[in-house]
Amino acid sequence: KRHLISAADLSRDDAVLILDTAEEMARVADRPIKKLPTLRGRTVVNLFFEDSTRTRISFEAAAKRLSADVINFSAKGSSVSKGESLKDTALTLEAMGADAVVIRHHASGAPHRLATSGWINGSVVNAGDGTHEHPTQALLDAFTMRRHLAGAPDGGPTHHQGGGDGTGRDLTGRRITIVGDVLHSRVARSNVHLLHTLGAEVTLVAPPTLVPIGVERWPCEVSYDLDSVVPKSDAVMMLRVQRERMNAAFFPTEREYARRYGLDGDRMARMPEHAIVMHPGPMNRGMEITAEVADSRRCTAVEQVANGVSIRMAVLYLLLGGAVLEPAAESAETK
Ligand code: CP
Repeated sequence: KRHLISAADLSRDDAVLILDTAEEMARVADRPIKKLPTLRGRTVVNLFFEDSTRTRISFEAAAKRLSADVINFSAKGSSVSKGESLKDTALTLEAMGADAVVIRHHASGAPHRLATSGWINGSVVNAGDGTHEHPTQALLDAFTMRRHLAGAPDGGPTHHQGGGDGTGRDLTGRRITIVGDVLHSRVARSNVHLLHTLGAEVTLVAPPTLVPIGVERWPCEVSYDLDSVVPKSDAVMMLRVQRERMNAAFFPTEREYARRYGLDGDRMARMPEHAIVMHPGPMNRGMEITAEVADSRRCTAVEQVANGVSIRMAVLYLLLGGAVLEPAAESAETK
């Protein structure tokens, strides 16, 4: 494959290959010298039309750890604010020799347009497009779940904080609950597709106004009652309430939302002992998750960010056809 646009495009073998490669990359990150020479001379462009902290920084860290040159482009402060189109921006990047373009865009479908337009020759990686998909987020989430939940020989959960890597395994039979603003969430859509591909059983929980039309065609269950689902979950993933994408008609009051769909200490206590709490970030503390839960040892939000670097290294490595996995310590540059 040349591009990564959608988690729905990944077969089980594709997904497991990326997850296993990310485990190799995580081992590199544990070494004193964290760099590999594999993408030396290649150029990765981070093309961000929408704000980001985690995704942009981790793609930059991932590309640099693979020794690629990195160009960071933010629409704010660029000629996009003078009206320059995606096409002309892409042609400019192509003129600079981009081997991969990592794009975040407010319009669903923008990465697909870039990949199929012929404007650029390099690989396109979707870093989040509108309400459509965020495939590397789903991959880092699956990586995190696999480390905590995969690998029990009897099919039962094996919870060990930061424990085994689950290499080669999928998430067959794991029960994953995704809670909150599903309507606006590219994270939820990508997770539903990828987790289904990896064998997990996914349940979405949301207020009726925040469930997308057509969800009955998604490979998951839908519930409106968080309390009935929490005790049966191996992982509970809380979604950010995306107030910037909604008006008052979507939303109960913040207090009512937190009461019915938020995760607090009492609800977390009703999760199975091995179960983890996840959040893609950024978090609205006090809305979808209380500070007590966000800061608890069961919450993997910070671990997810660290795992994001390994996943993005794996994706860039596999798409750009990196050569042998050798530490950069062996190269002349780092001697
Ligand atoms: N999870 C996520 O995509 O975070 P950012 O918006 O900070 O990149």
